[in-house]
Amino acid sequence: MLAKRLGQTRIIAETGAGQHGVATATVCARAGLECIVYMGALDVARQSPNVEKMKMLGAEVKSVYSGNKTLKDATNEALRDWINNPVDTHYIIGSVVGPHPYPDMVARFQSVISEEIRVQLKEKTGKETPDYVIACVGGGSNAAGAFYHFLDDPVVKLIAVEAAGKGVYSGESAATTQLGRAGVLHGSKSLLMQTPDGQVIEPYSISAGLDYPGIGPMLANLFVTKRAQFLSATDDEALRAALYLTQKEGIIPALESAHALAALEMIDFKPDDVVVVNISGRGDKDMEAYLNYYQSIK
Ligand SMILES: Cc1ncc(COP(=O)(O)O)c(C=O)c1O
Repeated sequence: MLAKRLGQTRIIAETGAGQHGVATATVCARAGLECIVYMGALDVARQSPNVEKMKMLGAEVKSVYSGNKTLKDATNEALRDWINNPVDTHYIIGSVVGPHPYPDMVARFQSVISEEIRVQLKEKTGKETPDYVIACVGGGSNAAGAFYHFLDDPVVKLIAVEAAGKGVYSGESAATTQLGRAGVLHGSKSLLMQTPDGQVIEPYSISAGLDYPGIGPMLANLFVTKRAQFLSATDDEALRAALYLTQKEGIIPALESAHALAALEMIDFKPDDVVVVNISGRGDKDMEAYLNYYQSIK
């Protein structure tokens, strides 16, 4: 709608797990707009069901071969495209990152999540506020949306879960708040994994959507002010949590969301605590990783 109002006909997006790419390709198909999605070559390989969906929807998926071929690199390319095509191109950013007003705008769009949580909790428990809201953090959009309408309710504990990859200090991790410090990436100042001289450290996570070396400025503020508590879950903890939810409730979560679920093992709950875990996506895109894990523990 914004692009149409601005008279722009060409839509670009970046994507890690492919969820945002599929969403963007979907609205472009609906609105009859050209759609180009930048995606790291590693993510194209590990999230292939979403790549096929984007192509079927008529989008062009451009593989990015720079860096470690993941989300950061796709975002670099999308920003380059945007800067080079200012007249006809609108950039739909997939998280609460990038230059202002994107972090704020995306958080407001995503805030429908916490609006809905309040309504559903009222129906089910009689009160609108839970004791905990737990969400995974890549750039931070599903967490920002899940936290948004609880930010001014200090009784609600906000738990953000980052990807620890193979261990926070293993050298293969994406736990930005644990490893990062203030820096500028993709047009905003926030927390960033970087070397002493300011070069971005390549992140790692089994989950393509959490494989990002920064977090949005709003999330960084929640960390610094301690309004949210930041935890991290390893690849193995997330895989275990995904299998548990699948077998207990018949819900196959996205690998990203499985990191939020893994935090349930890390918190000392009281028996009557009301806990909301945001399942940010479904796991069909991650079946290959789940099957490999399942085979390995049989
Ligand atoms: C299902 C899912 N959850 C979470 C994320 C992480 O992004 P964000 O932190 O912006 O919610 C992604 C990113 O691709 C995703 O696909």
